Amino acid sequence: MCGIVACIINDKAAPVLLECIRRLEYRGYDSVGLATLSGDIYIKKGEGKINDVHKRLDLTDIPGNMGIAHVRWATHGLPTSVNAHPQTDCKNRIALVHNGIIENYRELKTQLKDEGHIFTSETDTEILAHLIEKYMKIGNSLEVATRLATKDIKGSYAIAVISKDEPNKIIGVRKESPLIVGAGEKESFIASDVPAILKHTKNVIYLNDNEMVILSPDGVIIKDIDGNTLKNNINIIEWTSDMAEKGGFKHFMLKEIHEQPDVIKNTLMDFPEIKKVVAKFSKFKRICFIACGTSFHASIIGKYLFETLLGIPTDVMLSSEFIFSQGALDKNTLVILITQSGETADTLKALKIANKKSETLAIVNVLGSTITREADHIIYTRAGPEIGVASTKTYVSQLVSIYMLVIAMSENNKLLTELHKVPDYIKQVLEDEDHIIEIAKKYKDANDFFFIGRGFSYPTALEGALKLKEITYIHGEGYAAGELKHGPIALIDDNIPVLAIVPPGKSHDKTLSNIEEVKARGAKIISVGSSTDEILKSESHDIMGLEEDISEILSPIPYVVPLQLLSYYISVERGIDPDKPKNLAKCVTVE
Ligand code: M6R
Repeated sequence: MCGIVACIINDKAAPVLLECIRRLEYRGYDSVGLATLSGDIYIKKGEGKINDVHKRLDLTDIPGNMGIAHVRWATHGLPTSVNAHPQTDCKNRIALVHNGIIENYRELKTQLKDEGHIFTSETDTEILAHLIEKYMKIGNSLEVATRLATKDIKGSYAIAVISKDEPNKIIGVRKESPLIVGAGEKESFIASDVPAILKHTKNVIYLNDNEMVILSPDGVIIKDIDGNTLKNNINIIEWTSDMAEKGGFKHFMLKEIHEQPDVIKNTLMDFPEIKKVVAKFSKFKRICFIACGTSFHASIIGKYLFETLLGIPTDVMLSSEFIFSQGALDKNTLVILITQSGETADTLKALKIANKKSETLAIVNVLGSTITREADHIIYTRAGPEIGVASTKTYVSQLVSIYMLVIAMSENNKLLTELHKVPDYIKQVLEDEDHIIEIAKKYKDANDFFFIGRGFSYPTALEGALKLKEITYIHGEGYAAGELKHGPIALIDDNIPVLAIVPPGKSHDKTLSNIEEVKARGAKIISVGSSTDEILKSESHDIMGLEEDISEILSPIPYVVPLQLLSYYISVERGIDPDKPKNLAKCVTVE
């Protein structure tokens, strides 16, 4: 987690650093800080979200045309001003920002303290500033000292460091935390993620693990960790800076929900590419999906699809559990890892294990992310940058990619034709927004919700509950509707709204029976179903209806949209910022 930015430009750096780091606020928002270099090192940093800290401190009021910036998602030490980055050495001659975790920080701290270094924060990051200080003190350049310091530490890091003793230079290093380099015309950048710098350059170099970058007014030099110069592999990014703006919507999340019809159309354009990828897949006898959070819910739908349409036995594993139980991975198994960011630490760890035994396919949204360099096969989802912490458009794009994968393998052209109609179904849901706002107002004060569905609607129930929890702070429990009676029904009373996902099809009548069961215990029913379903209407207190009937197998895509909107509007009604819910970060780069 955490976001870092650095730049050397022809203008005052602080306003540009602030603008860039704002675009990384989705990575962490416990505290923010900037350091610039202009003869001396100038630092402004504070606890809280960027806007609040900027109001208090005016973060742009520091001189110099180069500097570093950071937004923090606290791991070591409380989210206080002292623990905010940049962190410095004993004499404030070195300033450093860091994303990652230094695992051996305790022993290094003791050692450095014994050598006379004075620490001011509780962070693991401060160790690095003191290590670089130590190596510079004995005559090394900033570049060499940084290299030596990184060799002493265990853990993951993406860092950017400046030193008063070497003006006009910024060093960045990466190991297991994302770091990209922006090579603009006479301006150079380092950032955790591409959207941070899109306004300034589209020429991006993706750093690999154990590589370093040296920014100077003359441009960028990439080296390996032993100091050998490497070739600058510049990628031209297709994403535009507008894609990372709110575009008139109140929040990124709302904009991203509304982008879904276009996202699906874009993702569908890759069907020919997917056909090429699957040409190599006929040998696989088993599938194993691995993912976290929302991407895990997409994986469950993947399991149902592979088993229903192709009859291929399919497992689904949480990335964080995969290290404990890996089943029977072998060369006949295709391991499919789903990740929006391509940087989720648990998923990357699982990939390393899977790579040793099976072929791996990554379904990923972020171009050039770590997973794209480590998996055997890649399918890109075409959602564009997703800034809201809660995944919405990337979830539907993951679903579309999985459907295309299964369609290509099963040559089910009828399903492909129907998949092309999904953007229109979603547009109809979006037209019903005012009605969903009314439902949000009615239920915003509930303390607990149940989300129930069967078959293809079960993962939708899980995803609806996750959205509710993360952006409204209301407890939401996603359950397979048939499983309620095996325990959780004990919790149902007239204070608990039950959100039932009931598309027409095989699961319909059985889910209706489950609705009856919870109604008999006082629950209020909000349903998602066909607007022509009169029985469902009569059983529901409120219904979010879809105008067109869609086959049950494809229903997970449009049926998740009312749930996204409901959570979004409950969040807004409760005065929460849905783009930056507490305790969360968009990209979870720690295990
Ligand atoms: O980038 P990834 O898809 O690997 O991220 C996985 C989860 O961290 C992510 O889906 C998370 O659950 C979202 N906040 C859900 O909205």
